Amino acid sequence: MALGWAADCVTCHAQQAAAHQGSAHARSLRRADAPQWRSIGADWAFGAGSQAVTFVSQADPQHYLEHGLSYYAKLDRFDLTPGHGSSAGERYRTFDPSAAILRCFQCHSTGKLTVSAEGQIGVPQPGVQCQACHGDGARHNGGRGPILNPGKLSASAMNDACGACHRKPVPAGDDTDFSNPWNVRHQPLYLARSACFLKSAGRLKCTTCHDAHTGAAKPMCASCHAQPKHRVAVTGTCESCHMPAVEPRPGLKFANHWISR
Ligand code: HEC
Ligand code: HEC
Ligand code: HEC
Ligand code: HEC
Ligand code: HEC
Ligand code: HEC
Ligand code: HEC
Repeated sequence: MALGWAADCVTCHAQQAAAHQGSAHARSLRRADAPQWRSIGADWAFGAGSQAVTFVSQADPQHYLEHGLSYYAKLDRFDLTPGHGSSAGERYRTFDPSAAILRCFQCHSTGKLTVSAEGQIGVPQPGVQCQACHGDGARHNGGRGPILNPGKLSASAMNDACGACHRKPVPAGDDTDFSNPWNVRHQPLYLARSACFLKSAGRLKCTTCHDAHTGAAKPMCASCHAQPKHRVAVTGTCESCHMPAVEPRPGLKFANHWISR
């Protein structure tokens, strides 16, 4: 019997499940039928809502529509969806070679997507759930067989694992435009450039600072920099100066993971 989804993990791993349940991962894709979104008439709501929510609907058997207006939590209002020039929205062919709309669902859900004869995308589990990070639980068979524990991955293997969705570091020699503020969302790419990562012999991973299940961040600078030498007196948190928030558009903020002076 193939072990199923989150419900089957919960029985034995209640602590991790409780932590994960309230996370942005768990809620990063939902049906758009919550009372506050009902008037929009969309099929799906992307984004847990800590930053923004973008709506996606099936337009016809061949197309999906990414709605032109997204909700920005910090602004508490709707405004143009990132990358859109008008509120009309953007139509995607479901089977376009770039598979743009299928890729949205893939990064925001768990399990293998299906497409019905009517062109409707089927999502086994909305949101980033247990098996998106731990892999198929079938072999684990209720603790009798192995399962991936990403905590045992090396720092660079973890960059790749989380980078499946958060974007991986580019191979040496390839270009990334680090002056484009939108790229700051790609934390593995940025972290991999910092002296902290490069010179700490693999001791700095995503989970050094983030709780894997809640997502919460503790910067952990003091564990390696007990007494940083500053030429001037400094006030404020370490990350406010060394991982400053970048705002690629009003309402969206990302911490710069290229830790630097
Ligand atoms: C019937 C109980 C049971 C179920 C259901 C179950 N597990 Fe486990 N799991 C265990 C036991 C027992 C261990 C071993 C614990 C230990 O070694 O301390 C374990 C260990 C793990 C580990 C650590 C593995 C390692 O090598 O460090 C992970 C990760 C894990 N389970 C994830 C999951 C996920 C994800 C699911 C759902 C697909 C799941 N488990 C379902 C009982 C279960
Ligand atoms: C299957 C794709 C996927 C994988 C794998 C993944 N993430 Fe995410 N992650 C997301 C998405 C999508 C969001 C956006 C959630 C939202 O809607 O705000 C997110 C959000 C986050 C956040 C922000 C949480 C918050 O409270 O706003 C953190 C931190 C994070 N991920 C860390 C990680 C780490 C560390 C790993 C690897 C152990 C990882 N993620 C693996 C897709 C993924
Ligand atoms: C390669 C994987 C990937 C793809 C493809 C993808 N997303 Fe995301 N998405 C993420 C991750 C990771 C985050 C978390 C970004 C962050 O907060 O650092 C995210 C965050 C979001 C958010 C929350 C706002 C924010 O920026 O944090 C929305 C809304 C969203 N995505 C919608 C979409 C839509 C709509 C599509 C398709 C047009 C899409 N995503 C395609 C991985 C992906
Ligand atoms: C965003 C990726 C991600 C998701 C989603 C996720 N985990 Fe984990 N899980 C991890 C990472 C990373 C570790 C290693 C934590 C560490 O070593 O700090 C881990 C560790 C574990 C462990 C080993 C014990 C521990 O706490 O370190 C268990 C058991 C586990 N997860 C169960 C689950 C269950 C059950 C779910 C779903 C309810 C789940 N995980 C969802 C990334 C994830
Ligand atoms: C796992 C250990 C580790 C952690 C955690 C860590 N660092 Fe570092 N960091 C290092 C190492 C090693 C260097 C390189 C020191 C050297 O070149 O002598 C470094 C270098 C730096 C530098 C100099 C950067 C440069 O480009 O020269 C700054 C600034 C810095 N760290 C700040 C921080 C801050 C702020 C945090 C917390 C957000 C942090 N570090 C967390 C290990 C770490
Ligand atoms: C040195 C500590 C540190 C490490 C290592 C680290 N982060 Fe973060 N991360 C932070 C801090 C601090 C924030 C800002 C939290 C806040 O604003 O509440 C953050 C925020 C985030 C967010 C929310 C969106 C954003 O960019 O602000 C995501 C997603 C994220 N980190 C993913 C990752 C991933 C994936 C890795 C591994 C490649 C990683 N982080 C490694 C400290 C770290
Ligand atoms: C007000 C902004 C600010 C704050 C807050 C701040 N720093 Fe710095 N930090 C700097 C600047 C600017 C430099 C480079 C110039 C200098 O040495 O004063 C620096 C340099 C460093 C260096 C490199 C020094 C060296 O020996 O190479 C480290 C490591 C560092 N900071 C860690 C930290 C840690 C850890 C914290 C939190 C306890 C922190 N910083 C708080 C602004 C800040």
